[in-house]
Amino acid sequence: MNKKRGNFSGGLGFVFAAAGSAVGLGNLWRFPYLAAQYGGGIFIFVYLILAITFGFSLLTAEIAIGRKTQLSPVLAYKKLNKKFSFLGYIATLVPIIIIPYYCVIGGWVTKYITVYAQGLAYPAAQDNFFSDFIGNPISPLIFFLIFMIICVLVIMLGVNKGIERISKFLMPVLLLLTIGIAIYTATLPGALEGISYYLVPDFSKFSIFTFAAALGQLFFSMSIAMGIMVTYGSYTKKEVNLTKSVNQIEIFDTIVALLAGFMVVPAVYVFSGEEGLSSSGPGLMFITLPKVFEQMPGGGIIALLFFILVFLAAITSAISVMEAIVSSLMDKFKLSRTVSCLIVIGICLLMGIPSSLGNGLWANIKILGMDFLTFFDYLSNSVLMPIVALFTCILVGWVIKPKAITDEITRNGEKFGRKKLFNVMIKYIAPVCLIFILVSYTLAQFGVIKL
Ligand code: PHE
Repeated sequence: MNKKRGNFSGGLGFVFAAAGSAVGLGNLWRFPYLAAQYGGGIFIFVYLILAITFGFSLLTAEIAIGRKTQLSPVLAYKKLNKKFSFLGYIATLVPIIIIPYYCVIGGWVTKYITVYAQGLAYPAAQDNFFSDFIGNPISPLIFFLIFMIICVLVIMLGVNKGIERISKFLMPVLLLLTIGIAIYTATLPGALEGISYYLVPDFSKFSIFTFAAALGQLFFSMSIAMGIMVTYGSYTKKEVNLTKSVNQIEIFDTIVALLAGFMVVPAVYVFSGEEGLSSSGPGLMFITLPKVFEQMPGGGIIALLFFILVFLAAITSAISVMEAIVSSLMDKFKLSRTVSCLIVIGICLLMGIPSSLGNGLWANIKILGMDFLTFFDYLSNSVLMPIVALFTCILVGWVIKPKAITDEITRNGEKFGRKKLFNVMIKYIAPVCLIFILVSYTLAQFGVIKL
């Protein structure tokens, strides 16, 4: 992202770049296991409502802040109001916490590429295959390092553009493949029950946890509340129609997530029934999909192709986030690209190694009752991102006022259809909900209240 400001080639160039960053492990890995864990249909229902209200408002606000200020997040919030410079720092901290464990999961994907490249479809489908792998002290660490080094090399060599160009062509293939796998799963005995679990909301399963999980997932998946979209906004030309772009990014990101869930969740029902759902966690995709592939004619090859494409989606997201961190370091501390990359490597090792070992060797070490990976995920998605979102709402809704943002959006006379919704969300609904979530969820987490 060391591009000159405003050099995205028009609206579509911007949408592709932002969607490349947005679509990643969040959609393919995180969304399905949360949907399975938090009640299926009800999670989807809450997620969709949040996407068209919270997601839309915050995505619009962040991109507009970027384009208005033409600055990266550390400086952008400060320019809008001096008292809010702290927001730039917290926003930048979020991707720094996420990227190390993102590389750990990226490593798991890399491992599965090698598994299928060796034709090991049958062993991969066995019950203990995944847990044996992540429990091993060395192997997941090596794959984590491989994934991380590939990302850093891409950034150091400056070949991001090339990778993004390849992924532009391959992402539609990933979509088609996901649809194909989902259709195949739907034909397996018992799938119907799983599909109805996934699609039909059961309102008795709703709790504040469903809401909090869906909200954190929305932020993660759309790369909001972490400065990334501010950065993207700052590269966008003034004549680009922002509302149209926001809609396209939102729709695309949500469709990919829904399809990924459709591919994974009903399959859990087929192979492990109800218990499989309640015990689902970050390993879900790696445990369930191999079982689907094993049954499928030609499954070994399809699995290989699938994991390669997931790898690409993961890498484009990881690169965009790492690049944002590297350029913030370069901007802020006047460091060279190489030194900044080395610092990013250092951070990844420092937090990625415990995240990886937490599934095996260090499984006994807990922070607030969580292993390292779960803790970093909790800290970023359930604490810091809601905080960033909350202060963004206060800044936009009450300090600079929504008009500053809506003027930026309609500067070329564009129509802003959901302007009223935007105003009400940013000023009232979003901040109130965010405060409520933050307080109640934190108290519940520490056992002060029972929800
Ligand atoms: N939103 C992206 C995803 O869904 C990317 C992301 C990458 C988010 C790194 C946070 C950190 O995968």
